[in-house]
Amino acid sequence: MAEASSNNGGLRLAGKVAIVTGGASGIGKETAHVFAEQGARVVVIADIQDELGNQVVASIGTQRCTYIHCDVADEDQVKNLVQSTVKTYGQVDIMFSNAGILSHTKQTIMELDISQANRVYAVNAQGMALCVKYAARAMVEGKVRGSIVCTASVEGSNGSLEFTDYTMSKHAVLGLMRSASVQLAAHGIRVNCVSPNGLATPLTVNYFGVSPEKVTEIFKQYSRLEGVVLTPRLVANAVLFLASNDSDFVTGLDLRVDGDFVLNKSS
Ligand SMILES: NC(=O)c1ccc[n+]([C@@H]2O[C@H](COP(=O)([O-])OP(=O)(O)OC[C@H]3O[C@@H](n4cnc5c(N)ncnc54)[C@H](O)[C@@H]3O)[C@@H](O)[C@H]2O)c1
Repeated sequence: MAEASSNNGGLRLAGKVAIVTGGASGIGKETAHVFAEQGARVVVIADIQDELGNQVVASIGTQRCTYIHCDVADEDQVKNLVQSTVKTYGQVDIMFSNAGILSHTKQTIMELDISQANRVYAVNAQGMALCVKYAARAMVEGKVRGSIVCTASVEGSNGSLEFTDYTMSKHAVLGLMRSASVQLAAHGIRVNCVSPNGLATPLTVNYFGVSPEKVTEIFKQYSRLEGVVLTPRLVANAVLFLASNDSDFVTGLDLRVDGDFVLNKSS
């Protein structure tokens, strides 16, 4: 007997309400497009870059996408993001907690600038925790078996030659995901991470101050896999898997989209 189709004509997010933090740019922007293509009822983009966020809304369409200014490091703003989404659209099915920053300098341990590091932790670790906190509350209150996906990084489980503060913050994201997945499983809520290798997005292009092509070239040395270049679309596809019912029995996973990360390819 054929299994009843639960995916509405192949659309993997049909009817779902999704929040994407950091959705104005890079991985978040691409994922917002993928979510909309896959039938999400609405994609709420939360970011601090208002103009870019509204451009993403315009390109997806105002019927299916909306923008809200939200600094994820500010608890009241995150609370408002989630509560206003529930008020307007009835529920939150998917939280893609993705907003993240890098320091402006290398942040090796011996040159660590603590004021920059504090902002990195506030956004990447505490902001991430706030997004998981309020999404989880809304899902539990609404009895929604939702999916929470956090963007970590290969630097969440490896040491790094620079970016010490960023690497610490991404290790924290894995701890957050693992604790939240254990605590929320009883409610049927899944929590996972996606961990990309380095790729060209405005984050890395601005940091290195070179072209996207050059950034891609720089990151090539960190994956063993040949013949493919990591793009925001490839990360978004992994997020789609975790966000959709295709991964219904997957929780507590760090899904590495890393082409087999290696710190030194010659080793
Ligand atoms: N690009 C990479 O090489 C790479 C690799 C691994 C992981 N990541 C992670 O992917 C995520 C997305 O990064 P990206 O590469 O797409 O960068 P990006 O800069 O293109 O996008 C990040 C978005 O987050 C937003 N943002 C920053 N601070 C915010 C705040 N306080 N509140 C709300 N929004 C905020 C920015 O405005 C931006 O739109 C980050 O968590 C980053 O750490 C990136």
